[in-house]
Amino acid sequence: MSTSIPHHIAVVMDGNGRWATRRFLPRVAGHKVGVDALRACVRHCGDIGVKVLTVFAFSSENWSRPPEEVSGLMELLALALSREVPQLKAEGVRIHFVGDRSSLPVKVRKGLAQAEADTAGNQRLVFNICFNYGGRWDIAQAAARLAAEGRAITEESLAGAMSLAHVPDPDLVIRTGGEHRLSNFLLWQSAYSEFYFSDKLWPEFDTRALDAAIEDYSRRERRFGKTSEQLDPKAARKAA
Ligand code: IPE
Ligand code: IPE
Ligand code: MG
Repeated sequence: MSTSIPHHIAVVMDGNGRWATRRFLPRVAGHKVGVDALRACVRHCGDIGVKVLTVFAFSSENWSRPPEEVSGLMELLALALSREVPQLKAEGVRIHFVGDRSSLPVKVRKGLAQAEADTAGNQRLVFNICFNYGGRWDIAQAAARLAAEGRAITEESLAGAMSLAHVPDPDLVIRTGGEHRLSNFLLWQSAYSEFYFSDKLWPEFDTRALDAAIEDYSRRERRFGKTSEQLDPKAARKAA
């Protein structure tokens, strides 16, 4: 059976802190190595034909971490943007930031806008970085926007007002780090996604691990509420 490449992969990059703690390093050191893993993941997705990659980099709830970790993450984002954007631009990656920007430091906000503007002409891979993002925030902001415009709230209008309206829903959602939960990621958009959980910590999640996740995804049958027979009547007759 040939491997089917998901159009849109979303990733909860979890386990950086544990990776560092196990090595007696500060947690921020784990986040730094996490950026290396992410760079490899973005490149591999582009190479194998994934069209959209969405990653969870900082949740609305992550503000409650120790202040030095929060400021370390803000600095790391600013640094990663200045270092990585030229290469991403050259590789045909289009960057979008998804989340509530209003409470981010001005320096970070400027960096986000600049990265988006610099890569706006690219088409090879759409790379959504969810930063200060929460699935509940997204649904609420979409509903508030529709209400302010006096529009009716329907599945279609809400989907169109969501922060990921520019891409189709994720086909595959991967979470590393051994936890089996969404932690407020893509609550609306993952309604029919396939889930893949890995015990690997994010800094260890290499391209082989990503290939294994895609291989596993390839073997799933996505029924969207239908029966197997409706999806493939010929195969069903053979099996009978
Ligand atoms: C995920 O790794 C990255 C962020 C939440 C920013 P964690 O920092 O949650 O790592 P663990 O789960 O503590 O190991
Ligand atoms: C989810 O991981 C958020 C990111 C990966 C950015 P967390 O580590 O914050 O999730 P919980 O707290 O274990 O649910
Ligand atoms: Mg975690």
